[in-house]
Amino acid sequence: MNDASAGQTGGDGTLLGRDQFSGRTAPGVAPKRGRGGQPAYFSVWDVHAYYGESYIVQGVSFDVREGEIVALLGRNGAGKTSTLRTLARVDSPVLRHGEIWLDHKPLHEMKAHEAARNGLGLVPEDRRIIRGLTVEENLQLAQIAPPHGWSLERLYELFPRLAERRKQEAVTMSGGEQQMLAVARALARDVKLLLLDEPYEGLAPVIVREIEKTLEQIKTLGMTTIIVEQNAIAALHLADRAIILDMGQVVFDGVAQEVLENEDLRQEYLAI
Ligand SMILES: Nc1ncnc2c1ncn2[C@@H]1O[C@H](COP(=O)(O)OP(=O)(O)OP(=O)(O)O)[C@@H](O)[C@H]1O
Ligand SMILES: [Mg+2]
Repeated sequence: MNDASAGQTGGDGTLLGRDQFSGRTAPGVAPKRGRGGQPAYFSVWDVHAYYGESYIVQGVSFDVREGEIVALLGRNGAGKTSTLRTLARVDSPVLRHGEIWLDHKPLHEMKAHEAARNGLGLVPEDRRIIRGLTVEENLQLAQIAPPHGWSLERLYELFPRLAERRKQEAVTMSGGEQQMLAVARALARDVKLLLLDEPYEGLAPVIVREIEKTLEQIKTLGMTTIIVEQNAIAALHLADRAIILDMGQVVFDGVAQEVLENEDLRQEYLAI
C-alpha cells in the first residue's frame, strides 16, 4: 500500500534536500484544498520529521474539519507521538518538509510557543502538572499570558472534580484528576485544536468513561480534537474519523465506524 521508496534517509548521513519530497503525499489522503477550494480548518500536508538522522514521520497528510474529533491510531512505535509533537512544533523531531495550517495560519513556519499562541493545545502523555502548585494555580499559570481561553468558572463547571480540589496540590490528585487538569489547562488558553496523547493511559475504566464524557461535552461546544490512544476502541467510539499510522505513514483515513467494523484492518494495524 505504501510507496516502497518512502522512508529512506540519506545513506551517507547527509541532510536530505527538499527535492526528494516534491509531489509526494501519503496514500489515501485528502487533497490539500477542501471542498470549494477552501483550505481545511486544520490541514497537514506531506509532513516529514526526523530525530537526528532517524526518519520517523514519513510524509503524513490529512485534513481535520472544524469541530471534528479524529482518533490517530497505530501500533506502538507507529509514530503517533512523534506526529503530534511535529504538529505542535516542538524542537524534536525536526520538521524538514511539509505544511501545517490551522485556521489559515502556517504553523510550519512557527516555533512551539507561537503555535500555542495561534491555538494549538498539546496535552502530552506525561501531563506536565506543575509540582508545588495547587490545581487553581496550575490553571492560573496557563492564563498568565494572553490570549485567554475559558474562564476558571467555566472550567470548574465542566470539571466539577477540579472545583472541589482547587486548593489541593495538583500532583497529589489521582491520575484521572490530573488528566482532567491537563485538559482544563489546555482549554484555559485560547485553543482551536486540542491534541491529546493517550489521555486514558493508566486510568480505570470508570475514569476513562468520565473523561470521555467531558470530551464529548467539549465536542458539543465545537472543539476540534485529535486523540491518540492505545485504547483504540474507546477512541473510536468517541471519534468521528480515524487515521491509522504505520511506520510513520498514513495507511487509513476514514470514518471511525469503518475501523470498528473492519476486523482485518484492526488486526493488521492495531492488533485488536
Ligand atoms: N527522541 C527520539 N529519538 C530517536 N527516535 C525516537 C525518539 N522518540 C521516538 N523515536 C522513535 O520514533 C518511532 C516512533 O515513536 P513514537 O513515540 O512516535 O511512536 P508511538 O506511535 O507514539 O508509539 P506508542 O504507542 O508506543 O506511544 C519509534 O521507532 C521510536 O523509537
Ligand atoms: Mg506515543
